[in-house]
Amino acid sequence: MFTSRQGREYSKFNIFDNDVGITMNTSITRRDFVKTAVMFAALPPLSSGAESENRVTGSGFMKRFGDGRDWFFEKRFGMFIHWGIYAVAGWHEQHMFRKKLTRAEYTPFMRQFNPVKFDPEKWLDIAEQAGMKYLTFTTKHVDGFCMWDTKQTDFNVTRTPYAKDVLAKLADACHRRKFPLCLYYSCADMNQKNYPSAGRSYELKTPEPGDQPDLNRYIEFVKAQVRELCTNYGEIHGFWWDANVIKHKDPSINAMIRQLQPKAVINNRGYDEGDFGTPERDWDNSVNTKPWFDKPIEACQAVGYQSWGWREDEDYYSDAHLIRSIQKVLAKGGNYLLNVGPKADGTIPEESAAILRRIGKWFSAVRDSLIDVEPAGQLTNNRDVVLTRRGNTLYVHLAREPETGSVFLSPMVDTPRRAVLLNTGEQVACDVADLPRLHNQTPDRCLRVKHLPVNERSTAGWVVKLEFDKLPITRGSGVKSEDTK
Ligand code: GLC
Repeated sequence: MFTSRQGREYSKFNIFDNDVGITMNTSITRRDFVKTAVMFAALPPLSSGAESENRVTGSGFMKRFGDGRDWFFEKRFGMFIHWGIYAVAGWHEQHMFRKKLTRAEYTPFMRQFNPVKFDPEKWLDIAEQAGMKYLTFTTKHVDGFCMWDTKQTDFNVTRTPYAKDVLAKLADACHRRKFPLCLYYSCADMNQKNYPSAGRSYELKTPEPGDQPDLNRYIEFVKAQVRELCTNYGEIHGFWWDANVIKHKDPSINAMIRQLQPKAVINNRGYDEGDFGTPERDWDNSVNTKPWFDKPIEACQAVGYQSWGWREDEDYYSDAHLIRSIQKVLAKGGNYLLNVGPKADGTIPEESAAILRRIGKWFSAVRDSLIDVEPAGQLTNNRDVVLTRRGNTLYVHLAREPETGSVFLSPMVDTPRRAVLLNTGEQVACDVADLPRLHNQTPDRCLRVKHLPVNERSTAGWVVKLEFDKLPITRGSGVKSEDTK
């Protein structure tokens, strides 16, 4: 038992022998406690005192790369673009694979690809309206079609009626705005004659007549293409591998990217483990169970439920679903890549653009609670919320649909000077309440935000901003990043 600077009693363990107010959850085991203490001891020291001193930019407890790749921790929210000749059919980006087409059946899309309305400035305007700060573009998807002027295959955009290098135009626009550009590249390739297709995901069932399956030659082709992409388009901020279904390993490929493009962050779906994880849609439950991320991740999600590429008859996600997903990931310190699929004429479909505008409206209201903050999940054992902080300001993210109009922040017992629902700017009520549900806990009361207008409007993306005179330093409540609800 010890007394914090606020004069409140905290129970159990004191991990560091400084004046940090650390509380331990009563349910934690001694083994977990020791593990946690070791984990936190390895962290850089946090300052206390005035807000400015307390400010920790980026993702708080996550270790940064310490080099040019650290842009990743500043930009946080990006636009994913899936665009290729599959947009002609407007069905799915894996049209060739999912419809089991031969090359002869698929390549005619190439002769119809003429995106005369393609204007990368318009794409970037839409991204900026959404609050997005970088862009990841599909240079080659599993069909093998290349959206740049590659010398390694004729199956590329300069051989379409459009005849121009799409990537060059996009890269120029990004560079003009200093908008980081990252490149998606599929390891699987249904067009390359050397690719050893064996009927796995994103492959032909068997090689086509005349093919010469040869992994080594295919990897040489990949290397030559990666060299083009990392040499001919100015500064590239990231490389986004996908579909390494062969599970081939070759760290020399990422090494080449790093040498040619030192600011490039590389994902974990390529020929080695790369720099960051890529949880997709809602399939990776650790995104839900971790109170914050301790390793770099970039969650990816499309606005459409069915497809990443343009889909005429798309089933769009609700705003509430997307906003909750974005909020959860950003609040836990991850990055978020939200995808739209431009049409074959080069425009981003109005439905998708409208979704992004609405997300942008939400994001601009709550941005301060998500960017340049540090995780503060250690302050509470309530896993229905995600906490972030900047100095003495605590942000309570309602990550799940609340069951009541109250939020309980056990074991916190400090009352904030002011509480505001950030989304609307309205002030909300708070108290430290003696609660029947806490009768068996120490302390048996806790900070409660109450009377939230849950019946008046959607709660998606809600953030309550709590301003304290002195908020305990968060590190070391005993809750580990791995803890589940
Ligand atoms: C899914 C899709 C694939 C898409 C990828 C982006 O794996 O199947 O087509 O490119 O998501 O993460």
